[in-house]
Amino acid sequence: MGLNEAKLAAAVAAFTLDTDELQAVAAAFRYDIERGLEGNTESTLPVLPAYLGLPTGEEQGEYLALDFGGTNVRVLRLRLLGHGNFTTLAKAAAPLRVSGQYDYTGSSATATELFDFIAGQVDAVLDGDHQTPYRLGHTFSFPSSQKDLRDARLLHWTKEFATSGVEGAYVNALLQEALLRRGIGNVQPTAVINDTVAVLLAAAYERGDTYIGSIYATGQNNCYLESYGEQRPAMILNMESGNFGKLLPNAYDLQLDAGSEKPGRQRLEKMVSGRYLGALFTLAMEDIQGRPLSSSFTSQDMAVLLSDAAAGAEALQRLFGISFSAAEAAALQPLAAAILRRSARLVAAAYTGILWHRAGSGPIVPQQIAIDGSVYEKMPLVQETLTQAMKELLAEDAAKVQLRLAAGGSGLGAALAAAMCKEQ
Ligand code: BGC
Repeated sequence: MGLNEAKLAAAVAAFTLDTDELQAVAAAFRYDIERGLEGNTESTLPVLPAYLGLPTGEEQGEYLALDFGGTNVRVLRLRLLGHGNFTTLAKAAAPLRVSGQYDYTGSSATATELFDFIAGQVDAVLDGDHQTPYRLGHTFSFPSSQKDLRDARLLHWTKEFATSGVEGAYVNALLQEALLRRGIGNVQPTAVINDTVAVLLAAAYERGDTYIGSIYATGQNNCYLESYGEQRPAMILNMESGNFGKLLPNAYDLQLDAGSEKPGRQRLEKMVSGRYLGALFTLAMEDIQGRPLSSSFTSQDMAVLLSDAAAGAEALQRLFGISFSAAEAAALQPLAAAILRRSARLVAAAYTGILWHRAGSGPIVPQQIAIDGSVYEKMPLVQETLTQAMKELLAEDAAKVQLRLAAGGSGLGAALAAAMCKEQ
């Protein structure tokens, strides 16, 4: 098919960030945290209070945990045993969208349909028990404003969700109504937390030296424990860092944003998260090819291309309907790599901005950052690029910060939030 090598090289360059640019992003990120805390609207970081501090480690008991925020909805019945230990008693999971069958994430679905579907998953872990009282913790992974831990109002959808009637509504109230419609009167939704908060709670349940929780998946976001000096008790803040906007977008970023559900919002997320990486690759390919392509690469396709050029050639051919040789697919690997490396480098800049803010004028304390999500866990190049970028940004301080995979924290964190609510 013949690749335009000059255009390919230009696309790779457009996704490349040097150390100075990265330092500037980290500094701007810290600046926006501090302006966000002052309530200054110039900040692109909402820093939303979670109405929770860290768990003590003593939390115990049986709880339901709902995890709603990505491709699948998951419900667990968990027994917390203290100090990082728990057992899973029952679990249910279902996709929110099955092509050709149903889609609870699109604008034609209503809040009632969506929450009735979720209530069905809650019912599945009850094994027909509509008597025993349960507290439910809800990990709801979208920007939400809270006045307390018990409920949260969706500010606006992200990750291309568009279900009608949920923006502006209280999500635990919607869930409670759906549970009652299904005859489930014994489940009380008592806490709502962001998935980043869930990851932080789950990691801190086991180890005390965790102050930052991160999701690096379909969406990307971070939370941290704000100590507020001596002024008031420490509280976890959901940064909604995907909305950070003081960046240098390239032409593909601008094009992707313009064609998205919410132009102008979630600018960092659109440059780093799994929902968008394949779309960026596709836009660059259209530019290289000089014509529109019929379908879009996903981040999984990028992983295939990076690990095996022959399999990558098949994926390119299947999706774009153009025949590619393995050599041509191999020539496209640097493009996929540049998109992934930029993603990991920008996430490292956000972590660094938080570390700088938490340290203030003092030293960075030894700690771990708890990270969950498929991009961090599974995508080629991501972990090593993140580690390398942290070294570039923090120099010798990087040795004090351990990046730790905290898989499955969403469910455990939701149960912990329900337990912590009980203790309040
Ligand atoms: C949402 C965040 C969430 C992140 C990861 C973003 O799109 O706005 O609330 O934490 O995705 O799921």
